[in-house]
Amino acid sequence: MLGLVELLTFAIQTIHATFSFSSSPSGPPGVAFYDPNLTGGSMLDNAGSGGGEPLNIIISALSSPEVLTDEGLLHYAQAIGFSFECLTVHLGDPQTANLGDGNGWVNQTVELRQDFGDDDLGTCLESLVGGNHFRMFRQNGTLANSGALFLAVSQEEDVWDGHTIIPDGYNAGRDKLVAAALGLSYHNRVTYSTVAQNLTGLLAPGSTGVNHGIATDGMTVLLTVTIVDK
Ligand SMILES: *[C@@H]1O[C@H](CO)[C@@H](O)[C@H](O)[C@H]1NC(C)=O
Ligand SMILES: *[C@@H]1O[C@H](CO)[C@@H](O)[C@H](O)[C@H]1NC(C)=O
Ligand SMILES: *[C@@H]1O[C@H](CO)[C@@H](O)[C@H](O)[C@H]1NC(C)=O
Ligand SMILES: *[C@@H]1O[C@H](CO)[C@@H](O)[C@H](O)[C@H]1NC(C)=O
Repeated sequence: MLGLVELLTFAIQTIHATFSFSSSPSGPPGVAFYDPNLTGGSMLDNAGSGGGEPLNIIISALSSPEVLTDEGLLHYAQAIGFSFECLTVHLGDPQTANLGDGNGWVNQTVELRQDFGDDDLGTCLESLVGGNHFRMFRQNGTLANSGALFLAVSQEEDVWDGHTIIPDGYNAGRDKLVAAALGLSYHNRVTYSTVAQNLTGLLAPGSTGVNHGIATDGMTVLLTVTIVDK
C-alpha cells in the first residue's frame, strides 16, 4: 500500500513526465527552445553592418519562470556580474534578430554590460576598459513560442581601441559568461543554480556572415537557471 507521500511524488513525476518532452510548437510548455533556422529565422543577428553576431548562449525556457522575465534576467545578470548599460557612454545601435517565431526581425530587448562589481558605476568602467556584454532576444512569437532567451555575447576592446570586439571575442565572451554563471550564484538574497549544455549544429563554425569577420567555433551553450532559494 502506497503512503500519501509516495502517491503525491508519483503524481508529480507523472505530470512532470507528461509536460517535459513536448516538442510541438503549439503544445504545452516544456521545450527548452526551438531552432530558429527550422522556421526561417537565424542564429546570427543583424548588426546593421552586413554581418551578424552569433546567438551563442540560450537561456532555456525550462529555467525558473522568474528568470525569463526582463526584470528577472536583470537580477540574474547582476548575480553573475552584469548590470545596466552605462548611461553616459552609450555605444552602438540596437541590433535585430529573427528567432523563427513568426515575429520577424525584432530589436534586442536589453543590452547588458559587465559591471565590475559595482551595479551603478561598473558598466561605465566597462565602457572605458572593455569587457563582456550581451544583447537579449526573446523567442515568443506564436510560431515557436518557447519563451527562451537568446543572447549574443561578446568581449570588447577598450574605448581607446575603438570599442570593437576583440579577436575571438564571440567565443571568449561566451566562455567568460558561462564560467561566471555555472554552479551557484547570488543576488538580492536570491540563489541561482545554473547548469550548461554545449550545443553544436545550430551555428556554422567559421566567419561566414559574422560581424567583423570574426570566426567562431559554432558552439552555442544552453544554460538552465533554477532559483533554488529566495
Ligand atoms: C528598433 O530600434 C530602432 C533604432 O533605435 C528604432 O528606430 C525602431 O523604432 C525600433 N523598432 C521597434 C519596433 O521598436
Ligand atoms: C515578446 O517579447 C517581446 C520582447 O521581450 C515583448 O516586447 C513582447 O511583449 C512579448 N510578447 C508577448 C506576447 O508576450
Ligand atoms: C563545453 O565545451 C567546453 C570547451 O569548449 C568544455 O570546457 C566544457 O566542459 C563543455 N561543457 C559541457 C557541459 O560539456
Ligand atoms: C539554415 O538554413 C539554411 C536554409 O535552409 C541552410 O542553408 C543553412 O545551412 C542552415 N544553417 C545551419 C547552420 O544549419
